[in-house]
Amino acid sequence: MRIDVVTIFPEYLEPLNVSLVGKARASGRLDVRLHGLREHTSDVHRTVDDSPYGGGPGMVMKPEPWAAALEGVVASAGPEDGAVPTLVVPTPSGRPFTQELAQELAGRPWLAFAPARYEGIDRRVIEEAAETMPVVEVSIGDYVLAGGEVAVLVIVEAVARLLPGVLGNAESHQDDSFAPGRMTDLLEGPVYTKPAEWRGREVPEVLLSGNHGKIARWRREQAFARTLAMRPDLVERWRRDGMDKHDLRA
Ligand code: ADE
Repeated sequence: MRIDVVTIFPEYLEPLNVSLVGKARASGRLDVRLHGLREHTSDVHRTVDDSPYGGGPGMVMKPEPWAAALEGVVASAGPEDGAVPTLVVPTPSGRPFTQELAQELAGRPWLAFAPARYEGIDRRVIEEAAETMPVVEVSIGDYVLAGGEVAVLVIVEAVARLLPGVLGNAESHQDDSFAPGRMTDLLEGPVYTKPAEWRGREVPEVLLSGNHGKIARWRREQAFARTLAMRPDLVERWRRDGMDKHDLRA
């Protein structure tokens, strides 16, 4: 997969060199290219923002540098990238980022990210881009960050771990909380490793029993209790859909 990120803070994305994403890049499974937005300005101050029409606080990102930067990205299409990228615009007013959306994005050959600072990007940039490429505006949660770069890190990490060959154990993401089609929104319960006793605390005996049916049942109960405690909204949703805990993780 190819990923381009246009930003005024390329250094903010340095974590993409580390750990899972860093390894995916090193192995060639992920081709990440960072672009400085200010490289696409033409004034001496390298201006990327201006005051909002209609008044109000803050600044709005100017359309010209964004258009030039995105056109540059599109013009660099390689034979394996697909004709155009899917443009991902992080914004608190976007569609909620979920595991399902991560899977959808993981199926695309090429993503381009447009993280904004200030009050956002001039709307016309998004409108114009949408005429030539798929555009998805994405929120990573109901809070406001100072800019979209952290959202890019979140989205890229969630997508990268779904790419073939990126996770060590090919099955390890099928068990995730929120994996579509498998666990129907059940949160993962507690996990334990050696030693069996640590500072007087013991690993639940059932996990040492070797009885796989019993272990699976225990895990399901723990996951259900956890979901009820942390996310009663999810439990409410199953009830509305006519399910109860016996339908989950079947
Ligand atoms: N930019 C600022 N806040 C954001 C959020 N919650 N999600 C995505 N992008 C953002």
